[in-house]
Amino acid sequence: MSTQEKTLVPGLAGIPASESAVSYIDGQAGVLEYRGYPIADLAANSTFEEVVFLLWNGRLPKSAELAELRASLVAKRSLAPEILEIIKLLPAGGHPMDALQTTVSLLGMHNPKARDFKDADVAQDICLELVAVLPTLVAAFDRSRRGLEIIQPDPDLDTAANFLWMINGEKPEEIAARTLDVALILHADHTMNASTFTARVVASAEADPYSVISAAVGTLSGPLHGGANERVLDSLAEIPSAEAVPTWLDAKFAAGGKVMGFGHRVYSVKDPRAHNLQGLVHQVFEKLGSTPIYDVALALETEMAERVGHKGIWPNVDFFSGIVYQKLGIATDLFTPVFAISRVSGWLAHWQEQMKDNKLFRPGQIYVGTHGHEYVPIDER
Ligand code: ACO
Repeated sequence: MSTQEKTLVPGLAGIPASESAVSYIDGQAGVLEYRGYPIADLAANSTFEEVVFLLWNGRLPKSAELAELRASLVAKRSLAPEILEIIKLLPAGGHPMDALQTTVSLLGMHNPKARDFKDADVAQDICLELVAVLPTLVAAFDRSRRGLEIIQPDPDLDTAANFLWMINGEKPEEIAARTLDVALILHADHTMNASTFTARVVASAEADPYSVISAAVGTLSGPLHGGANERVLDSLAEIPSAEAVPTWLDAKFAAGGKVMGFGHRVYSVKDPRAHNLQGLVHQVFEKLGSTPIYDVALALETEMAERVGHKGIWPNVDFFSGIVYQKLGIATDLFTPVFAISRVSGWLAHWQEQMKDNKLFRPGQIYVGTHGHEYVPIDER
């Protein structure tokens, strides 16, 4: 096909980049499934660890298999002393997503088998290590930047509870641990989004899995993608009360701004994960007390529905997640790292899938530049 016949689809919107059996979305019906299981059923009945097994194996685990996965993750959670020392040297004012991207690369440099990932045992080990250790990397940087002692993982706690323990230094209440566990389930995979596409592109070059994950972390940090969740809280904090929402929105729209936590490339209805997270908000507030920011959020949702609902702009996963995380004592700039400690499981499921039938990504382009210039020596220009 000649260049002239090609049609550009900005952002590759809706163009299939690969076949995948990991997750499924129906954006009109508001459906999300992991390996054929509806997200609401997994959120109600499952655990993050069980979802990791499901994403990687295509089926739910038996008890012994889940116990084995849990034990493997627990065994791989601690950081080598050299890595801890480097984390302490990272700039305390840097963003935790940058710290995470850097330290994931560092893990790769630290593993002499990083490039032997075509060996199935090595691949399995690296996948387990990455899921196990990302929460430790995030928590260690957070404690270090606050000048606090870095807390060792607790082998008796699962991923969510252990993360809260490592950042807060207190054993979390059951409701807090379960709430974060469900949030991790909801964020684990979401078809061919920008960071997953990044992961698959890097994987297709046969770069090692640490490079795959560190690149995906970089993409997730962007405000149009995972980085939206911390900006939602910043926006909500700017609005003094529910009554002030219309005036705030007038100014936002007049400036041509987008409202963080709304809109999605695939959903034209409310994101099913936002439904689940809103349910979690209710449960957590009932047990731990409400926050005024929630009233502002509800008023914003109503006002946005009136103004841009007809364009298919509804709350996405990021709209309610920050409200939940804030209540669990998680700092605003850790919201996107929390997303990453869940999504790493999905990125790795896609990495495994890509490696099974790999073809290097090499899309085309539509050239819009000029041709045939004569080279002019520098002193004649
Ligand atoms: N606030 C207000 N209006 C919006 C918003 C928003 N958040 N999102 C889209 N619109 C409007 C656009 O202005 C545009 O209106 P127009 O047709 O009158 O010009 C129309 O809806 C279509 O918008 P696009 O930007 O073309 O939609 P696209 O599919 O490219 O964007 C995106 C999707 C990037 C997520 C966008 O909705 C956005 O920037 N949202 C805010 C950031 C955010 O919350 N990101 C998290 C997404 S979920 C995730 O990544 C985990």
